[in-house]
Amino acid sequence: MNDTRTQPNTFALTTPLYYVNGLPHIGSAYTTIAADAIARFQKLRGRSVLLITGTDEHGQKIQRSAIDAGRSPQERCDEIAGKFQDLWQQLGIQYDRFSRTTAPRHEAIVKEFFGRVWDRGDIYLGQQTGWYCVACEEFKEKRDLLEGGQCPLHPNQTAEWRDERNYFFALSKYQERLEDLYQKQPDFIQPEIRRNEVLSFVKGGLQDFSISRVNLDWGFPVPGDPDHTLYVWFDALLGYVTALLDSTDEPTLENAIARWWPINLHLIGKDILRFHAVYWPAMLMSADLPLPDRVFGHGFLTKNGQKMSKTLGNIVDPVELVEKYGSDAVRYYFLKEIEFGKDGDFNETRFINILNADLANDLGNLLNRTLKMAQKYCGGKVPKVNPEELECEHPLKTIGLCLGERVAAAYESLAFHQACEETLILVRSCNKFLDDRAPWTLYKKGEQQAVEEVLYVVLESVRLAAYLLCAIVPGLSTAIYQQLGFEIDFDDPSTWKDLSFDLHGSWGKLDGDRTFSKPSPVFARLEMPETP
Ligand code: MSP
Repeated sequence: MNDTRTQPNTFALTTPLYYVNGLPHIGSAYTTIAADAIARFQKLRGRSVLLITGTDEHGQKIQRSAIDAGRSPQERCDEIAGKFQDLWQQLGIQYDRFSRTTAPRHEAIVKEFFGRVWDRGDIYLGQQTGWYCVACEEFKEKRDLLEGGQCPLHPNQTAEWRDERNYFFALSKYQERLEDLYQKQPDFIQPEIRRNEVLSFVKGGLQDFSISRVNLDWGFPVPGDPDHTLYVWFDALLGYVTALLDSTDEPTLENAIARWWPINLHLIGKDILRFHAVYWPAMLMSADLPLPDRVFGHGFLTKNGQKMSKTLGNIVDPVELVEKYGSDAVRYYFLKEIEFGKDGDFNETRFINILNADLANDLGNLLNRTLKMAQKYCGGKVPKVNPEELECEHPLKTIGLCLGERVAAAYESLAFHQACEETLILVRSCNKFLDDRAPWTLYKKGEQQAVEEVLYVVLESVRLAAYLLCAIVPGLSTAIYQQLGFEIDFDDPSTWKDLSFDLHGSWGKLDGDRTFSKPSPVFARLEMPETP
């Protein structure tokens, strides 16, 4: 089947659909923050964007966690799905679809998809024996388990022996076509290290995998054989498809793929790479549907250098973090501090130091002191300078003129840390420029035009920095814009079309008759918590 995307200027991306066996953790927040930053940046580029997130609600793990919580599985799913939605709101995530895999319309899509794969002859009954990790919802090779039989990702749980009759998906049939895909579309899996992992896994020879379970009722019944329920991953991946339906659409595959399919980007963590980069494209090939453009597997977060785990009691709670420090701080830390794709660490001291250095001092304080000077020396109005007439060699204008392009390239390649670094170069240059040119001395000497020029160039640079960071710290960018006299709210979706990303012409947008607001700190310094 050919590319069904009808509008070239659309961009659809997904986060994983999160398990509802427990409250959202920092790993889920991390992927979702990154996805939101990408979505906002793409809107800035003038694209129509669809950001899909949601919850993965079937399977043994969820069923057991509901029993442990003394609830019915559906009650438990409803409760935890609500917690995810609350957290996304606190973090300023502008998602368009929240896909829940227990939704009846999802069952219709799964049934239809199963039918297509069945008709293709890719599903058969067989005997499944092996070690199953319920926490991963995945069979494991004996050689991959720890000595005591636990899966290394969940060392507090022993893998369980299974010997049952299951339906299988004929993955092995797709070996060659998958290898061909990775070769012809080298960007399909990113970053490079993950691509290599997948290539070597596939090269080792693909085995069919079971897509049904017996003795488990928390799942969709297998069409035509209700003694089996569908394997949670088979139905979960299809949650991305169901999410594309408009609320009034009949739940059919044809309707689901009409506008946004294929997905431009699946954002995931590295532990679920195989499902997205091997199983998923093979399932789509079997159903004769076009493949997504790109799967990006990011790294894992640790705390103070240690793996986060309930047993160690060192889990970072995203709700606590955002309540304590605010959403801009949390978003900025994870996107600036960790190279996207690599593992990264959360350390509270470092968190506070980075935010104070970059946002409170370098950026926030720069704006504050320059605005105070503008009040004093220019009557609180935009200094009288024609940006076009400023020579292009002006040090800050030079940086500003090519910054848009560099930052856009960083966002496109999901190098958020680089987008921040590039922008900070401008901000730091402004601080140095102010100190060197000392407008307070120029003012005393009566050099009014020189004062106006220095202040204009710095304030315009701060505006540009706020613009380039707005996908990451929308609240802070809004505060900066408002102090500069703009009526702009980066959290208001209708704002985007007026702000389209202009790579070359984005310098000099701080225009004539604006009146600045009274200067007040846009990012309050964070205090180090007292050590007990
Ligand atoms: N339900 C599946 C996904 C199905 S998608 C159709 C699932 N859910 S999950 O809730 O367990 O994990 C969701 C995401 O969180 C995964 O991308 C995983 O990589 C990520 N993380 C879990 N722990 C993490 C860290 N400590 N650090 C970073 N991300 C981590 O898997």
